[in-house]
Amino acid sequence: MSDEVAQPDVAVTMGTEEVFEPSEEFRAAASFADPAIYEIAEADPEGWWESWAKHLEWSEPWSEVLRWDAPWAKWFVGGKLNVSANCLDRHVAAGNGEKVAYHWVGEDGATRDVTYRELLATTEKLANVLKDLGVEAGDVVGIYLPMIPEAPAAMLACARIGAVHNVVFGGFSAEAVRERMATSNAKLLVTADASLRRGEPMPMKAALEDALTQLPELKNVVVVDRTSALEGASDVDVPMTEGRDVWFHEAMEAAHDFCEPVALDSEHPLFILYTSGSTAKPKGIQHTTGGYLTGVSATHRMVFDIETDLDVFWCAADIGWVTGHSYIVYGALCNGATSVMYEGAPDYPHKGRFWEIIQKYKVTILYTAPTAIRTFIKWGREIPDGYDLSSLRLLGSVGEPINPRAWLWYREVIGGERCPIVDTWWQTETGQIMISPLPGITATKPGSATRPFPGISAAVVTSKGEIVEEGGGFLTLRRPWPGMARTLYGDPDRFVKTYWSRFGKDVYDVGDAARIDEDGYFWILGRTDDVINVSGHRLSTMEIESALVSHPQVAEAAVIGQSDEQTGQAITAFVTVDGSADPDDAMKTELAAHVAEKIGKLARPQRIIWSDDLPKTRSGKIMRRLLRDIAEGRELGDVTTLRDPAVVGLIADRVAAGEED
Ligand code: PRX
Repeated sequence: MSDEVAQPDVAVTMGTEEVFEPSEEFRAAASFADPAIYEIAEADPEGWWESWAKHLEWSEPWSEVLRWDAPWAKWFVGGKLNVSANCLDRHVAAGNGEKVAYHWVGEDGATRDVTYRELLATTEKLANVLKDLGVEAGDVVGIYLPMIPEAPAAMLACARIGAVHNVVFGGFSAEAVRERMATSNAKLLVTADASLRRGEPMPMKAALEDALTQLPELKNVVVVDRTSALEGASDVDVPMTEGRDVWFHEAMEAAHDFCEPVALDSEHPLFILYTSGSTAKPKGIQHTTGGYLTGVSATHRMVFDIETDLDVFWCAADIGWVTGHSYIVYGALCNGATSVMYEGAPDYPHKGRFWEIIQKYKVTILYTAPTAIRTFIKWGREIPDGYDLSSLRLLGSVGEPINPRAWLWYREVIGGERCPIVDTWWQTETGQIMISPLPGITATKPGSATRPFPGISAAVVTSKGEIVEEGGGFLTLRRPWPGMARTLYGDPDRFVKTYWSRFGKDVYDVGDAARIDEDGYFWILGRTDDVINVSGHRLSTMEIESALVSHPQVAEAAVIGQSDEQTGQAITAFVTVDGSADPDDAMKTELAAHVAEKIGKLARPQRIIWSDDLPKTRSGKIMRRLLRDIAEGRELGDVTTLRDPAVVGLIADRVAAGEED
């Protein structure tokens, strides 16, 4: 990198020199094997996306493909459609009602095959339950559920009547649910009695009780009974408030079967999904109907080379994250695919769980996160080697940079050296995959997400916004795409300021650092902002800091993402306690529990370093870069701009002496 080029504050991972061409066999069978597709899309991006929109069923055609008043986009202007009708009704109408939408595998080993017809029936009834409870088009409905088939049904039921879903990942705390319901003015919440964790029910509804009393806008709670029928599991207390809480099964029994899908404007909001940003306040990313469905169905079809009649697709993400929204639910169902949906952890009841599922359902495509792959590497190849994985033909990776070693292991041990790997880069905000190989076309390099999807324009730029032909800098997206977020719920100014200001109002500022190589391949290096990525989970350092300082004995806290071989990044917190607290192990446990209560267990710091003061610039900004250097034992950089340069030395000495514990 020259001095002219910005050097984002992240560690650079270099790739290997190896290049893997798609095999002749894969190429011959692939639906998309002609590289000319890139030029076709590039010559006329709007025409390209329009050709994909035509695969959907519209009740009214659009009059204009794109109206772009930067940064405000409208796709398929004037068109009307219903997402649930596209994902369900049309497949049933085409005679595919008996096709399996989900091979569902419960944590307890229970299995359920849900056909398109069954999923449609549940969706229709549930849509009527929502309507009976007063939910109308445009109302926000919260969904806080385990990975059970009721989760996609709830999302589709919202889509059917034009309600806007707001799914909260089941691992988030009640307080996080409260915040997300309050800021989105949710009217109803669909949740469960409990989720299962290693065979034991973990109460969900009971844990929400306090939060629910603080949500005056939330009129009803629909509760799915996940665990009462389970043998051997402890009973869960499920407090039900008359007039507010209803059992899912009772409401469903009382509801009508048939619910007409509402024809909605292409730009009608489909969902809000909160994600972490650079401040303590999560952002409600808002996606809409026609463009989003076009984007996710096109990318699902092309990146995964889906052959509806042959493939069994397993996206092993949780529905609570965007990957689950786009590729377990909307992309997969819109394409009429058969998916696996798994409720549990990869190591329960044993570490061969994934491979057992692949063997049983003859999964052909596995889409998972690098952190999972690194965990499998740690457990040893003997485990997957004990199963028949020959059904697999394609592997995918998402959520964080995949290190070349993990990539090569994935290819060799899981893919039997025959499966191409698609390393897909995208975000909650982009809605759809943006940079990825096309498996029948693109030669892959381990660790690189390769090239932008056809029709997508991406570039690496310097801090001044100049395009870098080869080298490192900031990743930008330079042309609207159909699945792009339209705004932040209730905060359009923040949308403009966060994403569309730094490099101009028509250039999307991704927030990631990237390198572009001599072949035009993109290597995503990590975040350039205060977002950290722990096991593919996106968290904000500020949000964790704010949780820590809400503890009455914490005076100050600074949180960083420390490099971690297993989880990509690990949460390290530098904490200053007040005089009333003893900085000891008991206090660490208490603080971890406090963060779990505020945000969720996934946000608990892995390491807490006590410090009497924190390194700050003269304007009072915490120097996270220095804290990262300290935590990772690196030589300290320039400290002259600090208000009190001695502080870093003191913390560093303490860490070096192992006294932090
Ligand atoms: O830093 C990038 C990383 O995850 C961020 C987006 O997180 P989220 O909105 O939670 O969505 C994750 C799933 C799409 C990005 O800004 N990221 C995602 N995919 C990759 C990645 N980093 C490197 N390689 C990827 N394939």
